[in-house]
Amino acid sequence: MTHRRKLIAGNWKMNKTAADGAALVTELVGTIGKITDVDVVVCPPFTALESVARAIDGSTVKLGAQNLHPESSGAFTGEISAPMLRALFATHVIVGHSERRSLFAETDAFINLKVLAALKNQLRPILCVVESLAEREAGATLKVVQTQLEAGLQGVSKEQMANLVIAYEPVWAIGTGKVATTDQAQEVHAFIRGLLTKLFTEPVAQRVRILYGGSMKPANAPELLAQKDIDGGLIGGASLEARSFVELVNAASAAK
Ligand code: 13P
Repeated sequence: MTHRRKLIAGNWKMNKTAADGAALVTELVGTIGKITDVDVVVCPPFTALESVARAIDGSTVKLGAQNLHPESSGAFTGEISAPMLRALFATHVIVGHSERRSLFAETDAFINLKVLAALKNQLRPILCVVESLAEREAGATLKVVQTQLEAGLQGVSKEQMANLVIAYEPVWAIGTGKVATTDQAQEVHAFIRGLLTKLFTEPVAQRVRILYGGSMKPANAPELLAQKDIDGGLIGGASLEARSFVELVNAASAAK
């Protein structure tokens, strides 16, 4: 079986000023700044990208953004493009987060354009696929995930898939303290990998990291990260404090 290095990504959402963000990552770099057996990514708000980039310089911690616009430049007031993110040394970008889908009405087609723009500009997209409680209760989870994945990955080549990360985020588990059971999460992750095998090839599917996101905490991480198809976490709340984020990185290191 292909060995996939675990990836822990912190999604700070709309939290931390430039100064607060730099202080948090300075603490992270002090403890996990040389870690090489786990990939660590922090995704601050746009306004903190530059200060965080400076604070992680020379460490193994990588920088991600939380969103991007598909166009490179132009009349898109309030938007940020892939080349702008690259210029700030971002390597990753979250695309299609559930909050973007539900609060900002992002469609699968628009999310697909963002994925393609990220890849074209050497940014690694962390493509989120999400499921609501109503969808889970209706037994529609796998169908919903399939639709989002197929649409989000339109036009992505096998070669590009090596640079793409997928995150499964059950909306009902985000910020609620309600975590999906390990069986529920593993079932969806295995389904996603199976779908990637069909859409691409088995070796491609074995290489792609699939993260779990939704109330992942030091207490539940070891069990989730021990699952065959769970390759890391996209962490909200627990990424805002150095201690819990470091514990999650250590849990990923222990689970490898
Ligand atoms: P929480 O970890 O706060 O539930 O957030 C998950 C999430 O949405 C990460 O993108």
